[in-house]
Amino acid sequence: MTAYTQLQTRLQAETNTWLITGVAGFIGSNLLETLLKLNQRVVGLDNFATGHQRNLDEVQTLVTPTQWANFSFINGDIRNLMDCQKAVTGVDYVLHQAALGSVPRSVADPITTNATNISGFLNMLVAARDAKVKRFVYAASSSTYGDHPALPKVEDIIGKPLSPYAVTKYVNELYAEVFGKTYGLQSVGLRYFNVFGPRQDPNGAYAAVIPKWISSMIKSEPIYINGDGETSRDFCFVKNAVQANLLAATVQTPEAVNQVYNVAVGDRTTLNELFALIRDNLAVYGISADIKPVYRDFRAGDVRHSLAYIGKTANFLGYSPTERLNQGLSLGIPAHIRLHHCID
Ligand SMILES: NC(=O)c1ccc[n+]([C@@H]2O[C@H](COP(=O)([O-])OP(=O)(O)OC[C@H]3O[C@@H](n4cnc5c(N)ncnc54)[C@H](O)[C@@H]3O)[C@@H](O)[C@H]2O)c1
Repeated sequence: MTAYTQLQTRLQAETNTWLITGVAGFIGSNLLETLLKLNQRVVGLDNFATGHQRNLDEVQTLVTPTQWANFSFINGDIRNLMDCQKAVTGVDYVLHQAALGSVPRSVADPITTNATNISGFLNMLVAARDAKVKRFVYAASSSTYGDHPALPKVEDIIGKPLSPYAVTKYVNELYAEVFGKTYGLQSVGLRYFNVFGPRQDPNGAYAAVIPKWISSMIKSEPIYINGDGETSRDFCFVKNAVQANLLAATVQTPEAVNQVYNVAVGDRTTLNELFALIRDNLAVYGISADIKPVYRDFRAGDVRHSLAYIGKTANFLGYSPTERLNQGLSLGIPAHIRLHHCID
């Protein structure tokens, strides 16, 4: 039995209250689905900056009416301290996901990214400290490895940030560490590596590569690869990220707390390989094996290679990813097709 299966069994038998910020977003709504299915009480906070009501509506269809009744939603903004204070009231565990993601968004508008990702993060830390929550788990990022060339990425060895977004995510880690030292707040930072899966937004200028490419292939639109396609990433199916959050919130060993962890699979895939995998997975939907990507310039701020060491996450949290890239794609693609029919 893995640490995660044991935890799921334990949670089924005891109800806790969880706050998910960014609950209407991709990772937030997947956390919501899992926690409600485990009969947990969930408070969700979101301002719909990049999240969607349709994500919450879909979760409602995936849980029972009794489970859905355990969810309460606050339409609020983490840049507003009062919204954060309201959201943390009576909460055991915080899973802080709300942020403005995307490296290019932060390059285009660093001020708005900073306000949400740093000032909003600080508001959440203060609110969580004052409400005496048991644990504050937050979405950190692999972008914190910046320009350090070493592979695989090991938590203690980071370089200089390559984008405003990376700065904000690193500042989150620094603040969380200081709140541990000065106020005793228990936190865990999860450095996500290219998470993908159901309910990830395929639209807009800042969409992530997997949902964007699936959507473009279905619509017979060109697929752009920034650079030569040999840029590589450690793609992580969202179920693995959900597992890491639940383990991080509840781990009891003191050494495991006030740490940051990589959340990935430990596999490296180039964009050229990813293109072929998505195309092959879409063959059953009539996508031709002959389509080719269009190559264009490298994008400012992007890290060239990314691959995680996940030994620390496994040793301290008992993390054991259940899906690798291809399994995640075969599970996630039907959800993307449903979404495509619902929003187009
Ligand atoms: N998806 C990835 O691959 C990845 C990788 C590294 C880090 N992360 C981090 O994980 C977290 C979740 O990312 P995601 O992919 O689910 O993105 P997402 O955009 O789908 O979700 C973010 C959610 O936060 C909400 N939000 C934004 N600003 C807010 C504000 N001021 N107040 C309240 N809510 C606000 C958005 O409306 C959205 O619902 C983010 O912190 C992101 O930086 C994601």
